Amino acid sequence: MSKSSILVARAIFPEVLQTLSQVFEVESNQADEVWSAAELTRRMQGKQGALTTGSERIDAALLQANPQLKMVANMAVGFNNFDVPAMTAAGVLASNTPDVLTETTADFGFALLMATARRISESEHYLRAGHWTKWSYDMFAGAEVHGSKLGILGMGRIGQGIARRAAHGFGMEVMYHNRSRLSADLEAECKARYVSKEELLTTADHVMLVVPYSAASHHTIGAAELAMMQPTATLVNIARGGIVDDAALAKALAAGQIAAAGLDVFEGEPQVHPDLLKVPNVVLTPHIASATIKTRKAMAQLAADNLIAFFSNGQALTPLNSLPGAAA
Ligand code: GLV
Repeated sequence: MSKSSILVARAIFPEVLQTLSQVFEVESNQADEVWSAAELTRRMQGKQGALTTGSERIDAALLQANPQLKMVANMAVGFNNFDVPAMTAAGVLASNTPDVLTETTADFGFALLMATARRISESEHYLRAGHWTKWSYDMFAGAEVHGSKLGILGMGRIGQGIARRAAHGFGMEVMYHNRSRLSADLEAECKARYVSKEELLTTADHVMLVVPYSAASHHTIGAAELAMMQPTATLVNIARGGIVDDAALAKALAAGQIAAAGLDVFEGEPQVHPDLLKVPNVVLTPHIASATIKTRKAMAQLAADNLIAFFSNGQALTPLNSLPGAAA
């Protein structure tokens, strides 16, 4: 039987590429060029499958130009780069990489919270710039983390991981708001209390965003929500760009409406709103919440395993849609 052809749209670990090459005819992009939508559509020609990252958009136009496509495996848990209904309508299976990154991403959420509340980046810049000539009693005094109130917006697997760290490790009072409430058992395990979005925003010392991006969650945090937060509060976004109105946040930070923010994701990334770059009370990282070698390898392997499983038996391991009578 001839091998199916796949496109690996971005550079990945060579050993994962090697595994894929044993099963498929592979066109890869180890030079890690960032292709335009037109180039991605062109490279997809003749491919039955593809491995993408969150940067490649799979939409109706690409699907229409590639009727031979059967499956796309995203190397990310978030999949807002996929138009899943259009993929289902075109008979294309979609998969993502849940679970393998949960704890690593929760670790990073906590790290960003600590860095933001305790002003780690800001104070390091000050030191590196040679401004540290004497110690003073209130130098870079930040917000307390242990024992404070954490509000988590979005209580999926990663939100729950953050809640456990906060409640069990740091004695924090954890509140959450989510589309659906957790079971009583999970709430008890996470020591988390379900509250309205309004209560969360008005009373939390720290607000952590872990909501998936969709049209409905666009600008979950805008000027009105920032105005509800306490002037001493911090905001951390490890969810997706677009969940926060970055222009409104830059204004709120500059005006001291909230104390500080930690952002791993941005609207229009890798571009960052220029006003965010001007304010000191924000910690900025380039979308690295799942970035440990172990976890990124696990994500790449799961994306590859999804493709291999689908093309060998018609069933992906972690599918996002189901296709009537799907078989490779
Ligand atoms: C990263 O942002 C992911 O969705 O895996």
